[in-house]
Amino acid sequence: MEIGTPETVKEVLINADQLRSRVAELGAQITADYDGKNPLFVCILKGAVMFLTDLLKNVNIPSQVDFMQVSSYGGATESSGIVKIIKDLDISAEGRHVVIVEDIVDTGITMKHLIELLSARRPASLNICALLDKKERRLVEIPLTYVGFEIPNAFVVGYGLDYAEYYRNLPFIGVLDPQVYRS
Ligand code: IMP
Repeated sequence: MEIGTPETVKEVLINADQLRSRVAELGAQITADYDGKNPLFVCILKGAVMFLTDLLKNVNIPSQVDFMQVSSYGGATESSGIVKIIKDLDISAEGRHVVIVEDIVDTGITMKHLIELLSARRPASLNICALLDKKERRLVEIPLTYVGFEIPNAFVVGYGLDYAEYYRNLPFIGVLDPQVYRS
């Protein structure tokens, strides 16, 4: 099986129409909730990029966007929740109404660390908007204000989410054939 090819995606979990309408709903909800608050959207690279751009087209209030990239340390230290900042914000989060835009919350370890990191910068408020919630895998409790879809425990790709940097371009969320990562 060649990585990145259509036959390696065994099932479409969320199609493009479903994504479009749910993301529009989230954008409308955020527009209502943040009216007059000038929110700062913090997009977590790279997986949340496609979600962010579609979401923002549905946010009709003054707002700003910035990007952050983090990576989990692998191996033994991963469960300790240590994440390394690869790219930090350019805009200060202090006193801002921050909305973290993330592709997927899985164990929650990455998000827990991000919350700690951004809370320390004293934002006026801090909420999370996650496209996907893989709830049954959660190891640490994370308060998610906005969730696109709850999904079962499967490795998913597409609409920004990758496996080995492939599949981000797919316009839907699909389940990756386990043969791809087992081989
Ligand atoms: P967590 O720290 O375990 O919650 O992992 C969060 C990160 O793992 C996400 O931001 C993704 O980059 C990655 N991830 C977790 N599950 C998946 C998946 O099913 N597909 C693609 N990436 C995933």
